[in-house]
Amino acid sequence: MIQVNTNNIAEFVPAAYQASLAQPLAQAHTWLQDASGIGNDFVGWVHLPRDYDKEEFSRIKAAAKKIQQQSTALVVIGIGGSYLGARGVIDALCSPNYNQKKKDTPNIYFAGNTLSADALNEVVELIGEQDFSINVISKSGTTTEPAISFRFFKELCEKKYGKEGARARIYATTDKTHGVLKALADAEGYETFVVPDSVGGRYSVLSAVGLLPIAACGVDIDALMGGAADMMAACAKPGQENPAWQYAAARSALYQSGKKIEILASYEPSFRFMTEWWKQLYGESEGKEGKGLFPASTEFTADLHSMGQYIQQGERLLFETVVRYEKPLTALTVPFDESDGDGLNFLAGKDMSFVNEQAMDGTLLAHVEGGVPNLVIHIGQNTAYTLGELIYFFEYACGLSGYLLGINPFDQPGVESYKKNMFALLGKPGYEDMRAELLEKLSK
Ligand code: PA5
Repeated sequence: MIQVNTNNIAEFVPAAYQASLAQPLAQAHTWLQDASGIGNDFVGWVHLPRDYDKEEFSRIKAAAKKIQQQSTALVVIGIGGSYLGARGVIDALCSPNYNQKKKDTPNIYFAGNTLSADALNEVVELIGEQDFSINVISKSGTTTEPAISFRFFKELCEKKYGKEGARARIYATTDKTHGVLKALADAEGYETFVVPDSVGGRYSVLSAVGLLPIAACGVDIDALMGGAADMMAACAKPGQENPAWQYAAARSALYQSGKKIEILASYEPSFRFMTEWWKQLYGESEGKEGKGLFPASTEFTADLHSMGQYIQQGERLLFETVVRYEKPLTALTVPFDESDGDGLNFLAGKDMSFVNEQAMDGTLLAHVEGGVPNLVIHIGQNTAYTLGELIYFFEYACGLSGYLLGINPFDQPGVESYKKNMFALLGKPGYEDMRAELLEKLSK
């Protein structure tokens, strides 16, 4: 079970911070558990690991098997909450080098998360002659990036396999009843999966949004949901023992003490996209009304050789949250070298995990000494179960944190501003006046 170590924030926050946050946390907890707070239309994720649609879950597993049989490549089209969770879990559990590995499961290519022609074209080239399936994921069905990408891949698929063949290879994950993608999928006869109404994009990784691509890569989604369900039970208990309460209280106290940036760090390169997922979860949930910690991320030890300088001695606006796995999956000992030219024989025979742990401890002490409070989240080994626990833990702590901040953690009104400008500049019907205004501004 996850453990949150708050020892290394003590000197930066008032000693009584936990007691002072007990009442607001209890209130936030009730709002989440009873769906009685602001944004309560979007708290379906709170009980999702228990209440998920079991029939659909079986269909997800069956579709994943079918994809594995029919294709050596799966194109997953989506952006934001319809992308980052699946990518984070697949990288963490199957490796960022998954496509290069020998395996029985299909390569995975993510598309629809950019408007770059080069990136889109590269995915088409990488697929090349491989047999491929498509999972297009969009709750609204109207998001520009995935919608444009889907046009390309749908066309490619239909050219290669014909209309009928393509129908058997395209899977759409979208709203249950509404939206353009739902209408298109029904008209074309694609198999569809549901993004539940009450689950917003950034909280949707444990729905079909994340589960289908994750299962297609061979991850045990029963174990993933099992970990999430156990963490759901732990987080449902009010009180200081609740790990999500501990994390939410600590980061809230650090924010109130003047810290503006939270860096999520890990010493496993495979965790990098989990930090991208976490950044969206916290950034989109908290960053509103002129408030909120800015979520950043680092991959140690690599970034100790770049961002390490700033963290140690730059503006004192930061704190770090370090995700520490219990043990790596691989035992690897440092070799002995006769000549000892690099002077490293004092490490010969030592496990790499020991070396990494000393780096973690040394860095923690240095950063705390340099004025960067450190929270450590201890999780078990890197498995589907522990990742399920961690996902739910972060989601629950995020809901609590948003309520502590006094904002709605489940909306994202600010995301619309750039979209409106982009549509106007692209000449979308209905945006004519705005287009003229923006062109005028750009011409100055
Ligand atoms: O969290 C969110 O709501 C967003 O990041 C969305 O997931 C993202 O904009 C994609 O939206 P959609 O799934 O509707 O295409």
